[in-house]
Amino acid sequence: MRDEPQSTGRRVYSGIQPTSVMTLGNYFGAVQNWVRLQDEHECVYCVVDLHAMTAPYDPSELRDSTREMFVSLLAAGVDPERSVVYVQSTVPEQAELCWLLATLASLGDLSRMTQFKEKAGAQRRGDDADGAFIPAALLFYPILQAADILAYRADAVPVGDDQSQHLEMSRGIARRFNSRFGNFFAEPETLLTTVPRVMSTADPTRKMSKSLGPRHFVGLFEDEGSVRRKIRSAVTDSGAAEGGGISPGVDNLLTLLAASGHPEEADRMREEYRIGKLRYVDLKGRTADALAALTAEMRDRRADVERRVGDVDEVVAEMGARARSIAGATLARVRDRMGIFPPGRSPATEL
Ligand code: TRP
Repeated sequence: MRDEPQSTGRRVYSGIQPTSVMTLGNYFGAVQNWVRLQDEHECVYCVVDLHAMTAPYDPSELRDSTREMFVSLLAAGVDPERSVVYVQSTVPEQAELCWLLATLASLGDLSRMTQFKEKAGAQRRGDDADGAFIPAALLFYPILQAADILAYRADAVPVGDDQSQHLEMSRGIARRFNSRFGNFFAEPETLLTTVPRVMSTADPTRKMSKSLGPRHFVGLFEDEGSVRRKIRSAVTDSGAAEGGGISPGVDNLLTLLAASGHPEEADRMREEYRIGKLRYVDLKGRTADALAALTAEMRDRRADVERRVGDVDEVVAEMGARARSIAGATLARVRDRMGIFPPGRSPATEL
């Protein structure tokens, strides 16, 4: 079996689902960390529209959300000059690699994935016309994720702990490939960075999410009035933690304050809370100010990106070409090792 030296620099890879709004939860919980990682690593970031197709969706909404997420990443500071940032569907090599890697994934393992069981359960209970329809793509979801990561031969993947099972699956696939066809892939590690977990301000026991409805999330580019309203009406005391701990609502506001660039102030207020001296109007006021400043800056940067970029689809296509050159090189070698033929000449050259 052939062995190949691994490159020494760490290549970081991560993906994000397209949603029509990037929330503070997405930003503080993932994207801000992605932006920082660019300083020290070669990074590849993907908007995973093919993954999003595993849930019921509308085609034109999917394209719009994907575009929106792509622009949001650029505005948030993912830098196409330093990193590869691309839309998954622009790289057909990945879907092909997914098929090849499917030969190395066990059906038993796939059907035991927590996310598969949850999503299949939810779609089985679905109340729309094809409520009982569970697409096979849902089962393949973790294989496509492995294909994402392995196509770029990444060795570190920053994700939340809800993805650790999928990452374990990616490592298993890489390991099986290496032992069957010779050492080629790094086993991608989960890159654990402590990131704030942002909860809904309307219900601080649930994770901030667009899907819970407009009261439950704050958008990264949301206008000031609306940001302030949501913070003013944030739940503070209901459901105070048992045992004298901090209530989830207060904790969440402190998290937001710290994450938006004021960690010392958040620490000080946490101490005031402990000794019973924190006034919620102050906490809400300061958090609202901090978030209003952040979202204003983000709106400016977004306007800037839009001015610079012009036609988003043009940039998406360009970035796709860059990503394809990396994924294509990997795929050619994988095909060869796995014993299949190179692709036929493209029809265009026959004309
Ligand atoms: N499944 C991930 C999520 O839901 C998104 C994702 C797709 C991803 N491909 C990836 C994350 C590759 C890391 C690496 O959050």
